[in-house]
Parts: sequence; structure tokens; C-alpha cells
Amino acid sequence: MTTRGGWVYSETVKDHFMHPRNVLKDGEVYEEDGKGDVGNVKCGDQMIVVIKVDKEKGIITDCKWQTYGCASAIASTSILSEMVKGMPLGQAFNLSPKDIARELGSLPEHKIHCSVLGDKALRAAINDYYKRNGMEDKLVIEDARLVCQCMNVTDHEIEEAVLEGARTFYELQEITKIGTVCGQCEPEATRLLNEYVKKHFAETGAATR
Ligand code: FES
Repeated sequence: MTTRGGWVYSETVKDHFMHPRNVLKDGEVYEEDGKGDVGNVKCGDQMIVVIKVDKEKGIITDCKWQTYGCASAIASTSILSEMVKGMPLGQAFNLSPKDIARELGSLPEHKIHCSVLGDKALRAAINDYYKRNGMEDKLVIEDARLVCQCMNVTDHEIEEAVLEGARTFYELQEITKIGTVCGQCEPEATRLLNEYVKKHFAETGAATR
């Protein structure tokens, strides 16, 4: 790894970016058991993840993906697609960007948010599998809670901003525009900011205003 204008990623990231595994090719026929499609192609960050499942055992047997994301998104999803093969659905659902980054031999902090897309799409694919198979009781609805009424910012957006590098309330504000009207949301936003920093970057310390 080098930080002097060259490649700043681990050899594993480089390998998965240069030789991505399990890519779903355009027009490929793939009879998936579950499909997750998140992001927006117009923003260049769409991600599709498809899975096959051993229904008896509740285990993912195959996983493919397609994205228009950046190098980090490609490497993250490539390694994720390898990690989940043979994994029980529940365990795969709970994988976090941190787990993926660890497997990659770390990602620069400001790039961890790129790995969010792959695991978001994986969770959508698992939920889709549950829906297709009448297993609604297993569905996990990822409810977003509105934190800033004025600017329409949710707790999920605060978490994503933290993954994107926000460590102070001002940095969070720069990314999300939270608290720029009445300011009433600031205490709760700061509390969540600290909670997500601790969750994802425990070793880097708490956020401050
Ligand atoms: S509630 Fe966030 S600025 Fe008003």
C-alpha cells in the first residue's frame, strides 16, 4: 500500500478490483432465489445482488452482483459475494461494512461507505427471498427514523455520513444539511453521531461538536 499519489488500498482490495469475483454479466440468465436492487443508476451507485439459497438448510449457496460503483464498491461487493457462500441467511443479513473492510485488509475510512451499498443490496436480496417464500415473519424492515424534521434527515443518513467521514456535528451538517433551520435536532443528531462513530470506528474516539 502507498499513500504518495499511488495505490492506497491493500493488495486484497486491488486483487478484487482488478479481478472481481461473481460478477453478474449483462444479459446473463440467473435464476435467483432473491434479488436486491439499491441505489440509483443516475447517481452512478446502483448495486444489484442476487442469491441462490439451499431452502432446506437456509444457507446461501451462490451470490452474484453488478454495480456501477467505484473501486471500493467493486472490491467490497466482490469479497462479500465470496464471504456469504455457505453462510446461513441470518448471519449474512448481519454482516456489517466493518466485517467487509476487515476481510479486505482494511479500507481507507472515507471509503468505508462504498461497502455499504453491497451489504444493503444483500439484505434486500435476503428479504426478497423471505417474501418469495412466504416467510414474512423473518422479514427485517429497516425503518428509518426522521431526526431532522426541517431538512428531512434520518438516522440512516447520519450513519452513512459517519461512514463517509463525518466526525463532528459540523462535518455531519456539511454532508446532510441537518440542523440548518431551527436547530432543535442538534442534541439528538450529536448523540447518534457519537453512537455511530463508536459502532464503526471504536478506536478513533468519540465525535465532538
Ligand atoms: S429539526 Fe433539524 S433543523 Fe429543525
